[in-house]
Amino acid sequence: MTTAPSALPEDTGRKTRVLVSTNGSAGSGKTTFASAVGYAAAARGKKVCFLPMDKQRDLSRLCGYDDPDSDEDLPTLYDVLDGICSLSEAVVPALNSKTKEVIPNLHLVLESRKLEHLEYKLAGETARELWLFRLLPELRGRFDIVIVDCPGDVKLATIGALIAGDEIIGCTKSQEKEARGLTELEDKITEIHRSYGHTGMRDSLDWVVIGEGVSNASQGKVYLDIEGQLREAYGSIVAKETVSDDVKVPEAYTAAQPVTLYSPKARAAVAYTKIGRQMKLYR
Ligand SMILES: Nc1ncnc2c1ncn2[C@@H]1O[C@H](COP(=O)(O)OP(=O)(O)O)[C@@H](O)[C@H]1O
Ligand SMILES: [Mg+2]
Repeated sequence: MTTAPSALPEDTGRKTRVLVSTNGSAGSGKTTFASAVGYAAAARGKKVCFLPMDKQRDLSRLCGYDDPDSDEDLPTLYDVLDGICSLSEAVVPALNSKTKEVIPNLHLVLESRKLEHLEYKLAGETARELWLFRLLPELRGRFDIVIVDCPGDVKLATIGALIAGDEIIGCTKSQEKEARGLTELEDKITEIHRSYGHTGMRDSLDWVVIGEGVSNASQGKVYLDIEGQLREAYGSIVAKETVSDDVKVPEAYTAAQPVTLYSPKARAAVAYTKIGRQMKLYR
């Protein structure tokens, strides 16, 4: 297993913020948030590493790797769990899918279809919920920002991220299913914190990001109602900007690029860029 030596930034001892993009519900904007804000930060000079964990491998695809499993030379997160390489050895540069050029400052650990078997893989391990907590120190000091992109459930991958991360970002749409996913996530955080609070893990959500909202009632009052409920329930941790429904997001998915790279002036890209700024990830 070989990676370009230039792939991994040096450990300069810098402070690394580990953000966890999550919601127990699928299709809630987790990968869109992670890719958009991560690219925006990298474009502003921050060293960023994505750590996506979904068997669907969407974020790997948005970083120029269409099918990481098909190339045996490419390390994946699953190889790290298999002990084939360390987490830092598995870091690869993100690529612009269109030009195939390396995107400066942006890195990732590739996903694998085999992440589906994570539960079984770690079944025999002591304190297996701490799997990511044990690995993450390898990346700290090298990056300004690590963004963990969770799958759409709160099983072992997500639990590991909730324990290991520094800030929990609940991504939701202004729709019932995704908003409910957020409530379930909060309950789960409370439950996990009871056992793992001593690790220093967060005991609640740090941010709520509302994606795919609408700007006026004619597009559907129910969206505005749910957004209102979310803002009331979560108060100041809700990102000021609601990311509106924007066709550039699915277009960017088709082009296999973060929306902030694909169309930086698109409404959704501008909103995500502002959200990253509100989170003080960059100026
Ligand atoms: N602001 C938006 N406008 C339009 N479509 C969006 C927007 N945000 C997300 N989507 C679409 O919603 C789907 C799910 O988003 P995604 O970020 O992949 O969710 P998750 O990672 O939580 O499963 C994608 O097909 C994406 O194109
Ligand atoms: Mg996703």
